[in-house]
Amino acid sequence: MTEHDYHQERPAPPPPPAGCPVDHSWSPLNDDYLADPYPVAAALSAEHPVFYAEELGHLVVTRMDDLEAIFTDHETFASVNVQDPVFPLAPGAHEILSAPDFDPVAVMSNRPEPDHGKIRVHTRQGFSNRRLKTLEPYIRSRTHELIDEMLAGGSPAEFIEALAFPLPGETVFRFIGFPPSDDELLKGWCGDRKAFSWGRPTPAEQVEIAEHMLAYWRYCRDFTAEKRANRGDDLASELITAQEENPDDLTYREVESIIYGLSFAGHEAVTALICNTLQCLLPRRDDWAAVGADPELIPNAVEEVLRFNSSQISWRRITTTDTELGGHHVPAGTPIFLNFASANRQADLWPDPDRFDIRRPNANRHISFGKGVHYCLGAKLAKVETQIVTEILSQRLPSLRLVEDQTFDYFPNITFRGPEQLYVAWDD
Ligand code: HEM
Repeated sequence: MTEHDYHQERPAPPPPPAGCPVDHSWSPLNDDYLADPYPVAAALSAEHPVFYAEELGHLVVTRMDDLEAIFTDHETFASVNVQDPVFPLAPGAHEILSAPDFDPVAVMSNRPEPDHGKIRVHTRQGFSNRRLKTLEPYIRSRTHELIDEMLAGGSPAEFIEALAFPLPGETVFRFIGFPPSDDELLKGWCGDRKAFSWGRPTPAEQVEIAEHMLAYWRYCRDFTAEKRANRGDDLASELITAQEENPDDLTYREVESIIYGLSFAGHEAVTALICNTLQCLLPRRDDWAAVGADPELIPNAVEEVLRFNSSQISWRRITTTDTELGGHHVPAGTPIFLNFASANRQADLWPDPDRFDIRRPNANRHISFGKGVHYCLGAKLAKVETQIVTEILSQRLPSLRLVEDQTFDYFPNITFRGPEQLYVAWDD
């Protein structure tokens, strides 16, 4: 294992900060929290804005000002742990990932400064407005096609399989430059990474995920080599050229690793955001009719979903040095859990915070894309995809509704949130 391995297992953290309140039973993996995190997060925050969660082994920070202070002080609060498995890996998974050629390096979210800044300059160029504009027609036409297929199957339909899973996957694959003929293969490999880094998979599940990660990494390496020889108008080609022109800023292994990381970053959180948007809008019939009639309402409606029912409700950091948080002395090496679920519903920032309001003036004040040097590079793409789906669905299917009496299951993990299945119906 080297300093910048993509996924690391860290030494045991120090004991809870002296004098800090300790919660012995709460965990983001508790059933009631997975089903509805918001009332629990609010109650925990009201009791202790900063506390130590024994089950999770993290110091939990719940208020917006503390979250922003942490995100904007990358020297004290490093992001190196954000892709690490939360719980120790089983030996079988270890063995697979010890393959000598499994060597992706930390490049974006989990790479410290100053390297991260140099890598980000070149990656950010790939996320230009021009590239987004060229992707938009693809997102629109693919959304129409997937809706056509859903309609052909008849009402009701399971919406994740029909649209919310394939669309963001295929969009990020086109963005990177993967050929459409590999879509099914890629979707199979990339669908379960959240269990690995943010969940508590069984040893057998870990082995399966590790095998997928290894296969996907090998694919990324072959793909990058092939792109090097045959460039196109895509992010991978741009990164390869940037690497050749700036070998001191960006290594070839880092280019391969960016490609490896992006397909997860750009996929599941968008699938969940599209579903969460429908969960918010469809039961509120006036809102569904309003966005169908006036697409200009949609960008703010999507910001409100990101505040009220985000697809990412936490993130992590680790202290690099002794520091203070919430009046407590926090030793170096303490893992921090930043709880977006409480901060995004803070009553002093949003009046009546538990009400969903597509016209809320400061909806976009949420923290769902982070802040500071690691601010989400794909925020615009995620929003554009969700906006386009909302626009097309609300115009083509004004009668679209959630199937009544369905129960929503949430995949057990500490960070990402969206239903595992979402049944929708419409009038034929
Ligand atoms: C709703 C969907 C999404 C959410 C909620 C989300 C959220 C986040 C968050 C919270 C961070 C960490 C910010 C920090 O540490 O300060 C992040 C980083 C990142 N996201 Fe996203 N993201 C989404 C979609 C995407 C998409 C579509 C892409 C790319 C295609 C993407 C690429 C990235 C990258 C590359 C980083 C690391 C940036 C860096 O470290 O410089 N994300 N995202």
